[in-house]
Amino acid sequence: MPAYKFKVNGKDQAVDVMADTPLLWVLRDTLGLCGTKYGCGVGDCGACTVLVDGEAKRSCQITAEEAAGKQVLTIESLPADGTHALQKAWIEEDVPQCGYCQSGQIMAAYALLKETPSPSDHQIDEAMDRNLCRCGTYQRIKAAVKRAAKSGGVA
Ligand code: FES
Ligand code: FES
Repeated sequence: MPAYKFKVNGKDQAVDVMADTPLLWVLRDTLGLCGTKYGCGVGDCGACTVLVDGEAKRSCQITAEEAAGKQVLTIESLPADGTHALQKAWIEEDVPQCGYCQSGQIMAAYALLKETPSPSDHQIDEAMDRNLCRCGTYQRIKAAVKRAAKSGGVA
């Protein structure tokens, strides 16, 4: 199997996988980064959202070959002690219910605030629109994104 190289959470990684292996499986199965979740597997739910070269992407829809040479950020890139603005806002707004969708939600919010540090309601709606939450935490997610933006964002 060919080796594909990319940087994940700032660390150089080389993985021997088939070219069409989804990045999601590389992250979870090969690298053991299980914070990124498998929801639908067809690009519909956003549970598997990570940043690829700074953009929110569905890792179930990108192959190892396509990710090669790129910078990937997963939920594990945020500090384990929960001190990141997004983590604090998520806790303060008491966002998660079952939690399953939330790493994808946070990474989508991360990409939004990186690009747009003070998003309007409409921009938040647009950016988060395709990240589904079966528990219906949408209003709290929106409040948390606003709170994180107010507290300095993700710069
Ligand atoms: S698991 Fe990738 S979008 Fe649902
Ligand atoms: S918190 Fe349960 S799916 Fe979103």
